[in-house]
Amino acid sequence: MPFSRSVKIAPSILAADFANFGAECRAVEQQGADWVHVDVMDGHFVPNLTFGPAMCAALRPHIQGVMDVNLMIAPVEPFLQAFAKAGADHLTAHLESGPHIHKTLQTIRALGCKAGLAINPGTGLDAVPYLLDDIDLLVVMTVNPGFGGQKLIPAMLDKIRALRAMVADRPIHIQIDGGVTADNAAALTQAGADVLVAGSSIFAGGSPGNPAPYGANIRHLRAAANA
Ligand code: DX5
Repeated sequence: MPFSRSVKIAPSILAADFANFGAECRAVEQQGADWVHVDVMDGHFVPNLTFGPAMCAALRPHIQGVMDVNLMIAPVEPFLQAFAKAGADHLTAHLESGPHIHKTLQTIRALGCKAGLAINPGTGLDAVPYLLDDIDLLVVMTVNPGFGGQKLIPAMLDKIRALRAMVADRPIHIQIDGGVTADNAAALTQAGADVLVAGSSIFAGGSPGNPAPYGANIRHLRAAANA
């Protein structure tokens, strides 16, 4: 698919019904999601535990479009092949996940996935210019990773602006993850974001059996982001 900077909405299944992931993924895609965002947490790099490659493999048949996997794990290298084999389209590693992030990004691409680089709220951007040739996706963590339902950290808007300037015309998406709502979406896209991950603000009020609220939330978020 050719690169486009049009706004993309990526529901984070961390806010979905864990006992019904397949149906939840199908529901949000049918209701207009552009990507399906999957948070992998190891209880070490972040203070929460979610799921691994086997879950991603189980989700794959239920996601027609893009499976966007954020690896909040350290170390990350030992697991890259398993997540690529599980069918991830995008694999995002954190800048803070280890000393060899350049090698990690190259390995992700060599495995046939798009490479994402995530940056925690307290981390600066010094290393980023040296990694731009090796990434397809920059992820600004706008909350301290580990849990959904947190409030977006306003200071991250300056970080988004700085990254957008750094990226210039390169085909690199700028993804925002954490605390995204229809109230802050316009400020995020005006700062330079084109991919909005959202959990609680999309899965609120709906279910696979009643997916209409998912569609309304996605349309509302997209309209606000394009305002
Ligand atoms: C938090 C995760 C986010 C989270 C987003 O560590 O990385 O993807 O699920 O959920 P909300 O939109 O509820 O902040």
